Amino acid sequence: MHKIMFCFLSVLGVVVDGFTHKEYNQYLISRQLNGFKSLEIVGGDEVDIKQHPYQVSLYYSNEFSCGGSIVSESYVLTAGHCVLPYPTYKFNFNPKDYHIRVGSSYMDGRGGKKYNINAITVHPEYCKLCDFDYDIAVMKLSTKIALNGITVKTVQLPESGKFLKSGENIVVTGWGDTTIKLDDCSDVLRAVTVPVQSLEHCVKQLTMFTITDRMLCAGFDEGGKDACQGDSGGPAVAESSSVQYGIVSFGLGCARPNKPGVYTNIAAPPIRDWIKNLTGI
Ligand code: ARG
Repeated sequence: MHKIMFCFLSVLGVVVDGFTHKEYNQYLISRQLNGFKSLEIVGGDEVDIKQHPYQVSLYYSNEFSCGGSIVSESYVLTAGHCVLPYPTYKFNFNPKDYHIRVGSSYMDGRGGKKYNINAITVHPEYCKLCDFDYDIAVMKLSTKIALNGITVKTVQLPESGKFLKSGENIVVTGWGDTTIKLDDCSDVLRAVTVPVQSLEHCVKQLTMFTITDRMLCAGFDEGGKDACQGDSGGPAVAESSSVQYGIVSFGLGCARPNKPGVYTNIAAPPIRDWIKNLTGI
């Protein structure tokens, strides 16, 4: 569903050659609706930012849009689709329209600190086919993040080619949201723990998508626990090491049986090496 909508918007981008604020809001709204009944991270618990101090919230034109993670004083990771498939489709895209907030447990970022974005780089392979492959973007901040070691910390990234095994748990965090709750200041960060699935298993479950080596699937066959709309761009870390292996990317609905969540696979060499080349990390 999301795939169809996303591709439709991409086509729209080519035709219109520009993505207005209103259109972007419509995109966000349809994204929320695609999550239908599921609000926020599904089946998880409220957590404090101190437990996941690398988590950031991303805003487009002052509206919450996605999650992200701090990888250094200057760089934040998010999903490619969180910042639109620029420059492929020449949307009206300006880093100045985005900002992040760090060090807050709340969706509106209160109590945390705001940082502006200086540059956004989407993986050059992202959305070539509009199939969510290479769904990653790196944001360079205008000023360095003040890391305080308590509520604001960097997350470690895996070595290139060092993958998690199926059955190992990842912890996914995010605010998720619904259209109605976009301005709800009481929305607290949530976390959910799900096991990694083998790619072969995932391919069999999500036949409507092209599942690639740049993706990581996680979830229970019985469903019930998952990331959901609005969690995109946010981190999935290994439960055992807190190393970030995934970025929330897509799914078919949320927490449905036999429909695992799909994450950008950070350890995949074309992803990990690209991050390294760009950021030195
Ligand atoms: N694409 C969604 C977003 O933009 C994230 C969906 C994750 N879905 C899932 N079932 N794990 O927020």
